[in-house]
Amino acid sequence: MTGNQANMAGPLLFFDTGVGGLSVLRETKKLLPTAPIIYAADYAGMPYGMKSEDELSTRIPLLLGRLVERYKPQMVTIACNTASTIALDVVRSVLDIPVVGTVPAIKPASQMTKTGVIGLLGTRATIRQPYVDRLASEFAADKKLIRFGASDLVHAAEAKLRGEIPDSTLIEAAVAGLTEQQDGEKIDTVILACTHFPLVQTELQKSFVRDIQFIDGSQGIARRIAYLSRGVSWPETSENGVFVTTGDLEKLPPYQNSLDEFGLTKLEAL
Ligand code: DGL
Repeated sequence: MTGNQANMAGPLLFFDTGVGGLSVLRETKKLLPTAPIIYAADYAGMPYGMKSEDELSTRIPLLLGRLVERYKPQMVTIACNTASTIALDVVRSVLDIPVVGTVPAIKPASQMTKTGVIGLLGTRATIRQPYVDRLASEFAADKKLIRFGASDLVHAAEAKLRGEIPDSTLIEAAVAGLTEQQDGEKIDTVILACTHFPLVQTELQKSFVRDIQFIDGSQGIARRIAYLSRGVSWPETSENGVFVTTGDLEKLPPYQNSLDEFGLTKLEAL
C-alpha cells in the first residue's frame, strides 16, 4: 500500500448472507465509530449453511468482485464463518485489497474451558470444513470439541432482528444438538461459529442448564480491521451507512429499526 492509499478513508465493506455480520460490525464500530460502512447481505443466496462448497466458492468471489467495483472499499470483511471457511483463499486471490475473514474461535475457547469440553455451533457447511479440523487439531487437540450444525438458528436470529420473538424450538434444538452428544453435559464453553448466533446468545444461555461462556470471533476481527486501517483519517462524524442486498428490497422494512442502530440508513439493491 502506498502512503497515499493508506490515508484514503474508503469505506469498510462487510459481507454476510443476512444480518449476522452485524455482530462483527458492532465490535468494529466500538473501535472505529466514524468509519464509513457498506454492509452487503446476500439474501438471494441465503442460507449458505445448506449450500455446497462448489456453489459457494463460485458465488462469493463473484459477488464480492461486483461489490468492490461499485463501492471501492479499502477493505473487505467476510463477516460469515461459512463463507470464510470455504472461500477466503479464493476471494483473497481475486481481490487486490485486504480481506479479513471470520473463522471459529477455537483457540480462545480452548484456553477458556475448565471442563475440557467445548461446544461448537456453526452452520452445517461450516462444521464439516477441513479448516475447522485444522484449527481443532492445532489448538484443541487435548480438548473434546463437540460440533453441531445448527443451520436453522440463522432463522431465529433473522426473526429477532425483524423485531419478532425467535422461535424457542429452534433455540432448544441447537442446544440439545450439543448437550445430547456424548459428554455434552460437561460443555462449559460454546463457540458461536456463525455470525448470526451471537445475536441470540441470551436465548441460547437460557436453554442451557449450566452457565456457559460463549465466545465468537467478532472482537478479534474488529481489532484486526483497526490494525489494518491504522493511519487512515476517518471522517469526524459518522456518515449514513449503506445496506446493500442481492435480495428483495421490499422485505427490508421490518429490519429497519435494527439497521438504524448501526447507522445503516441507505438501502440499496445489488
Ligand atoms: N452468518 C453465516 C455464518 O457466519 C451463515 C448464514 C447462512 O447460513 O446463510 O456462517
